[in-house]
Amino acid sequence: MARPTPHHPLFDRLFRQAVTVDLGTANTLIYTDDGGIVLNQPSVVCFEKDQSSGPKRVAAVGAEARQLLGRAPRNLEAVRPMRHGVIANFSAAEHMIRQFVDMARPRQLFSRRAAFTLCVPAGATQVERRAITEAAVSAGAWKVNLIGESLASAVGAGLPVAEATGSMVVDIGGGTTEVGVLTLGGTAYSGSIRVGGDAFDMAIVSYVRNLYGVLLGEQTAEHVKKNIGTAVRDVPAEHMNATGRSVDDGLPRTVQLSNHDVADAIEGPLRQVIGAVKRGLEMAPPELVTDIAHNGIVLTGGGALLANLERRLTHEIGLEVRVADEPLTCAVRGAGAAAASGLLDEFACQ
Ligand SMILES: Nc1ncnc2c1ncn2[C@@H]1O[C@H](COP(=O)(O)OP(=O)(O)OP(=O)(O)O)[C@@H](O)[C@H]1O
Ligand SMILES: [Mg+2]
Repeated sequence: MARPTPHHPLFDRLFRQAVTVDLGTANTLIYTDDGGIVLNQPSVVCFEKDQSSGPKRVAAVGAEARQLLGRAPRNLEAVRPMRHGVIANFSAAEHMIRQFVDMARPRQLFSRRAAFTLCVPAGATQVERRAITEAAVSAGAWKVNLIGESLASAVGAGLPVAEATGSMVVDIGGGTTEVGVLTLGGTAYSGSIRVGGDAFDMAIVSYVRNLYGVLLGEQTAEHVKKNIGTAVRDVPAEHMNATGRSVDDGLPRTVQLSNHDVADAIEGPLRQVIGAVKRGLEMAPPELVTDIAHNGIVLTGGGALLANLERRLTHEIGLEVRVADEPLTCAVRGAGAAAASGLLDEFACQ
């Protein structure tokens, strides 16, 4: 059988397949039309430290590398290449994307030379947009489209973005919170703050250090947040133990934390998220605000899973707030659907 050539229809099918990548601060997801979500891994890469200044070798990536965060032996270095939704360490991001694309490929017949659609936060600068584009090109993309995370998340959450009505989506990721108001397939308002789940974890770390003199690791703090975190205080008490290092003598110490402690700890970043949502309502055109008052607000991103967040926002803002189905995968599914429907052309920056 003749091999597919660049002019053969099979070529487009196999080698020009559209691939959508959500390169998030916490998690990277890859989606294809045929295969759905073909990769879902923590955005972490682990290098073997080289004595010479030669190129570093990737020792692990994704979930395997994440386990080494904060506990890597001396010859290894675990890195999170993304901060606040944008690339903070270009070379690490490049290695990570390349590995992820290779991991996703065997299951899905797309070549590295596929057209890539990437989600970016609204607040990303031109330099940051160029960096992510270059990282994708270096991973093999022959063409790169960028899509705003808000639009992608709104499409993924099933909001009627193409209709003549205003929809508000709030995507709370690891490093950013994006507030978007969408209408007629366009973005009427988008705002992004550099506060997300990471800031909640850090707030728990500093609360426990100040109150109990115990330094928790970031992953332990995240575990506490996911287990007993709550955005409101008027809930029955729940407790869990967390072990860290005493700041006095450096020895391990276990403290018992309550969900009320955690609510107090995260109040600061939570207020910033609430402030960003209020600002979105203030800045959006009045007619669209009327629509949002009618349609309510939808939460996406992993941060939307914080217990009682929708209740707290409803209380603060006075509008109906709900969490999207599968909030962690909304952005990548939505970006893939937007790319397939042509919605993207209007928003493509490149
Ligand atoms: N059950 C939960 N309760 C609270 N937070 C959660 C829960 N599950 C996940 N998270 C938080 O969600 C965040 C990750 O969400 P997500 O994968 O949407 O981020 P991201 O897309 O990688 O980041 P960004 O969009 O900011 O670049 C992490 O901070 C994680 O701790
Ligand atoms: Mg995200």
